[in-house]
Order: sequence, then C-alpha cells, then structure tokens
Amino acid sequence: MYGRHPLADAGRIIHAMLTDQLAHFAPRLYIELTGQTGRGASRESAQQIADYFKKCFDEYFQTLEVEPGQIRHYLAGKRILEYGPGDVPGVALLMIAHGADSAVCVDRFPMVSISATNAEVLARLMDGLDEEAKARAASCFQRPGAPASGLCEQRIRYLVKPGGLSGLSNAADLIISRAVLEHVNDLHATFADMRNALSGTGVAVHQVDLKSHGLHRDNPLDFLTWPVLWWSWMYAHKGMPNRWRVNRYRETLSANSLRTTLLKPTVLADQRDIEEVRPYLAAPFRAVSDEDLSWLGFWLVCDKTTQAQGE
Ligand SMILES: C[S@@+](CC[C@H](N)C(=O)[O-])C[C@H]1O[C@@H](n2cnc3c(N)ncnc32)[C@H](O)[C@@H]1O
Repeated sequence: MYGRHPLADAGRIIHAMLTDQLAHFAPRLYIELTGQTGRGASRESAQQIADYFKKCFDEYFQTLEVEPGQIRHYLAGKRILEYGPGDVPGVALLMIAHGADSAVCVDRFPMVSISATNAEVLARLMDGLDEEAKARAASCFQRPGAPASGLCEQRIRYLVKPGGLSGLSNAADLIISRAVLEHVNDLHATFADMRNALSGTGVAVHQVDLKSHGLHRDNPLDFLTWPVLWWSWMYAHKGMPNRWRVNRYRETLSANSLRTTLLKPTVLADQRDIEEVRPYLAAPFRAVSDEDLSWLGFWLVCDKTTQAQGE
C-alpha cells in the first residue's frame, strides 16, 4: 500500500513523474518509446489482434442483445462513434462491413498507425468476411481493399482531439468503447460529449475495466490508496486509469441526463481485499460502498431517452 514501502514508493514516484512529463510534452515520442497499442505489452500476431477485434465486435452485440442474424439489419445505415480505438480501427472496419454507414474514431492520443502489422490485421479481418461484407470493408481504404493505402475518410474518420472529445452533435447512432472510459481525463466531459454526439434514438455501449492496469502491488485495490495529487503527477498525461469507481459513473450518467438500460459487473473483487485496503483509501474512495468497490469492470448501455419516453 502507498506509504508502506517508502523506498519503493520514492523510486516509483520519481520515475513516474519524469515519464509523465515526457508524455505531456512529447506524446508521440512517449507512445513510440513505450510501444503502446492499447492492448497491453504482450507481442501478438496479426491474426491474434484480428481475433481480438472480432471478439470485441461480437460482444457489443451480445450486450445489446442483437442476435448474429440481426446485426446487419441493426447496423444498416448507422453512424458509429468509437472512443479510443487503440492503434488500429479494427472494430470500426467490422461495423462498416456489417452495414454501418460510417465511423468516427476519436482519441486523446495519436495512437492509430497503419503499420505493416496493422495493415495485415485489417486484411485478416476482411479475409474472414463474406463477399458482400468484404466489398463494404474494402471501401474503407483510399485504394479499395488495400489497407496500406490509408483510411478513406468518408468511411472511417480518425480524430485526435484534446481530452479525446469528438465535438459531434446529433451525429452518432451507435457509440462504442472498450477499455477506454477508465482512462479518460475528464469523465463528465466525455459523457457530455457522448450525449451531444448521440442522435435522439442512438445508443451507447461501453465496456469499462476498473482493474489497476498493473499499477497495484500486494492487493488488487491498493492503487486506490495513492493520494489524488500524487496520482495525477505520476500519470495524468499518460492516459493511465482515472481510478473512478462505478458510483462515479452512475453520478455522471445522471448529471448528463443519460438513461441507463444496462449496468452489469464483469469481475468482482474479493471482500477480504476490500477490507484490507479500506483504512488506507485515498479521499475520493473513502465513502464508496463495499459493493461498489468490488466492481472491477462492467458493461454499460445508455441512451438519451427521457424517463417518460422510455416507459
Ligand atoms: C486500453 S486502450 C483500448 C484500445 C481499444 N479500445 C482496445 O480495446 O484495444 C485505451 C484507449 O483509450 C484512449 N484514450 C485515452 N484517453 C482518452 C480520452 N480522453 N478520450 C478518448 N480516448 C482516450 C487511448 O489512447 C487508447 O486508444
């Protein structure tokens, strides 16, 4: 826990604060030096990455309770907004292949690069499609069917914006993200952006990972013991977890007048870990209930429907 290992803490603080300054003033260099992809540090083959995006795509529709045979009908003509696609817009490609009209992918960091490996990932995703879907996917590239030629902006537009905010208004029928909301620097601003971007009948579906992202030591929740200022000095510019718990998401949804149609945990912490960490929690987490502290990830589905409309 923070404060229990002063020497290790001091080393971590110095290293993390220096690298945070690098991320602040040279974000592109920081991404290159750390080799970030958005999918962790392990080396993956193009096929493994393609399989990951296919899994993400399938899970969005399982969560939305859209049967595989209904996906084309559901997506027909829809405009997609994806927050934080990582380094390759694989899910956006699949959305368009299966009927969506276009996709905007927005990020706070310049992550996307159509490197040889990532072009291969996109090619593998196309290989797995039937002829009709393959033809639609082919239209996502400047030279149809050639990922290395770059993205065709009419189909997939990639935006790097301060705070990762799209600035769109009434322009998205389906908003998606996976392993992103726990990284955003201003959760309220991201939900406000989402609300503005959603069309009246639009739906947003997000998977959120509340685990430590490798930043805990002895207890999976001990990263919640770092005081807020220290945490921010060490990680604010690197897109590391913002540490908000599910209670904060509920409050933010409500403050932005978004209706929650699904909020379901994916992983739960052990009660013993919660009890051990509770006396050391940093200020923002002290009033969080045991139940809410136990959520280490969740699925969220929300929309703009007002209560009266929804009933
Ligand atoms: C863990 S990665 C997940 C990438 C991808 N969704 C996946 O599942 O592989 C987090 C992504 O969120 C992005 N991100 C961080 N802060 C953001 C923000 N404020 N708005 C939008 N994206 C952000 C990161 O740059 C990165 O692309």
